[in-house]
Amino acid sequence: MNWDDYIKKHTKKIDEALDSLLPGELTAPATIHKAMRYSVFNGGKRLRPLIAIASSEYMDVDVDRTVYSMGAMIEMVHAYSLVHDDLPSMDNDDFRRGKPTVHRLFSEAIAILAGDALLTMAFEVMGMLGSYKTNGDIGALLTGFASAIGSRGLVGGQVMDLERRNAKPTPEDILFIHKNKTAALMMFAAIAPALFFKKRTYLPDMRSYGESLGMAFQIGDDIVDHHKGEGEPSAVDVFGMDGAKKLFHEYMDKAEGAIRYEKKGVSLIAVCDWVKQEFRV
Ligand code: IPE
Ligand code: IPE
Ligand code: MG
Ligand code: MG
Repeated sequence: MNWDDYIKKHTKKIDEALDSLLPGELTAPATIHKAMRYSVFNGGKRLRPLIAIASSEYMDVDVDRTVYSMGAMIEMVHAYSLVHDDLPSMDNDDFRRGKPTVHRLFSEAIAILAGDALLTMAFEVMGMLGSYKTNGDIGALLTGFASAIGSRGLVGGQVMDLERRNAKPTPEDILFIHKNKTAALMMFAAIAPALFFKKRTYLPDMRSYGESLGMAFQIGDDIVDHHKGEGEPSAVDVFGMDGAKKLFHEYMDKAEGAIRYEKKGVSLIAVCDWVKQEFRV
């Protein structure tokens, strides 16, 4: 299967999982369910669920309803993080994916609450995974997920990102911010199947793959966003454009280098190629 067909096939399944898991738009109170759905079905690439799917293939886990739901669970947290990231008190962005942000279209209060509800819903979905596969290690998945997205992960990265506005961050600050605000969730997407399906021998390689890919991804985003000059901590400001590009490729090489079994790793490598293409770095 070529990569375009692969993406099409799996994103359709992820979208179906999200659609069936999220409350309908008419479910009371309708406003929040509309806002949640708006933030989720607004043209996202589904990169993190695709990492979880490719990682499952790598460790011979069948890609079925459980894996798609796992991907949906991760995407819900990704969507929440973006809704909150765009808020006036954070990045104050009016558009995301070319469309009005949730707080612009609904209200700031609804955007905060939609983010809260998406984050909470992800844990409800995790509970469902436990009922789909009763022998799955839900405890390991829960600990891994919560630690990746809490104050020692995504939230912590966002805090440091806010605290380094308009004051030049050090290289260590940038690496800390990128590792936590972006790479932590991608790292979790890569290790989630290993945690839940008890394929622990794959953990170190998948951790390295997901984290390196996430670092490269945020550096790529900084390179693309550079012209905006919004005062948000950026790898380009700290390392220079050439330095940031070099670092992007170093992390990409590290991600690809973590894939030991070439045959089973074709999708994981294709994800790397996709990200490289996306940023044209
Ligand atoms: C955007 O992530 C936020 C960053 C971590 C830079 P994506 O580019 O994966 O977001 P969507 O969901 O595809 O829009
Ligand atoms: C987003 O980082 C990271 C999270 C939402 C956790 P950015 O603020 O750099 O991403 P964009 O440019 O708004 O997508
Ligand atoms: Mg931000
Ligand atoms: Mg932002």
